[in-house]
Amino acid sequence: MHVFITGGTGLIGSAVVAELLRGGHRVIALARSDASADALLAAGAEPLRGDLADLPALRAGAARADGIIHLAFGNDFSSAGALDRAIAEESAALATLGQELVGSGRPLVTVSGTPPVPGRVSTESDPAPEGGPVAGRSRSLAALFELTSQGVRSVAVRMPRTVHNEGRGGFAGLLTEIARKTGVSGYPGDGGQRWPAVHALDAAVLFRLALEHGEAGTSWHAVADEGVAVRDIAAVIGRRLGIPVQQVPEENFGPLGPVFAMDQPASSAHTRQALGWEPTHPGLLEDLENIRP
Ligand SMILES: NC(=O)c1ccc[n+]([C@@H]2O[C@H](COP(=O)([O-])OP(=O)(O)OC[C@H]3O[C@@H](n4cnc5c(N)ncnc54)[C@H](OP(=O)(O)O)[C@@H]3O)[C@@H](O)[C@H]2O)c1
Repeated sequence: MHVFITGGTGLIGSAVVAELLRGGHRVIALARSDASADALLAAGAEPLRGDLADLPALRAGAARADGIIHLAFGNDFSSAGALDRAIAEESAALATLGQELVGSGRPLVTVSGTPPVPGRVSTESDPAPEGGPVAGRSRSLAALFELTSQGVRSVAVRMPRTVHNEGRGGFAGLLTEIARKTGVSGYPGDGGQRWPAVHALDAAVLFRLALEHGEAGTSWHAVADEGVAVRDIAAVIGRRLGIPVQQVPEENFGPLGPVFAMDQPASSAHTRQALGWEPTHPGLLEDLENIRP
């Protein structure tokens, strides 16, 4: 398959590009800078210059593809305004990609997040979250799923709260960055809240499987660790950095505070059974041992 990918230089996307190439696919990848274009070329993909706001570039990439994987996102969590702008930009980009595939039956696999469900582990059949700071991303996804009635094979691969590779990435990576800056490895609440997690290399395999086999309107969970207590994550970060581990106010984490404080374990039982996906890489706590002071 010729696959058009956005976000192909990111933590998850670079692993997806490698996995697609290993699986025999050809990859055309959106590149918003010379550095990203060079990295994509070196990885074996064909860069297509443009960014998420460049809708003609997105149309051009989609027109050349048998399938699309969308991963690019601003990931600027510094303020509610910055997050809203990134969500609006992604929404327009996703709508453009979807429109290009109308009537074709081609797959558009987009990244999403596992939903938090109070009191229990969430599953693939739970709906995307309607509230919270990233609720706008669920609305973009809902609009994409509406296109299934117009011949788009819309598929969502839901990432757990934190995706990691070599001790870096995701919200655990943000906790590490904050810990480096403040000299304290902090966690909100009592730290007993659990985050599901996956290694980026395992998530990449699921993106390929969803592209190849995911039926229209389906959602899949890239969950390897069902739920790791945030205080245990903070403990490894603190030990690796040689700094104290302690509870800190939720407000310290800006717009993401409520997300960081929430218990949100998730299951991937259905995904494993239906797609034959089996994670093989280190779990989150083992991978965080790669953090260097
Ligand atoms: N990592 C996690 O724990 C996690 C958890 C849940 C969901 N997700 C979602 O998974 C997706 C990928 O995450 P990630 O951790 O791999 O992100 P990442 O490492 O920050 O990479 C972001 C990617 O998006 C590209 N990008 C950002 N803004 C763009 C724009 N305006 N136009 C074009 N490209 C743009 C970046 O390109 P450059 O390299 O050129 O900057 C990069 O390829 C995101 O949608 C993220 O929200 C991640």
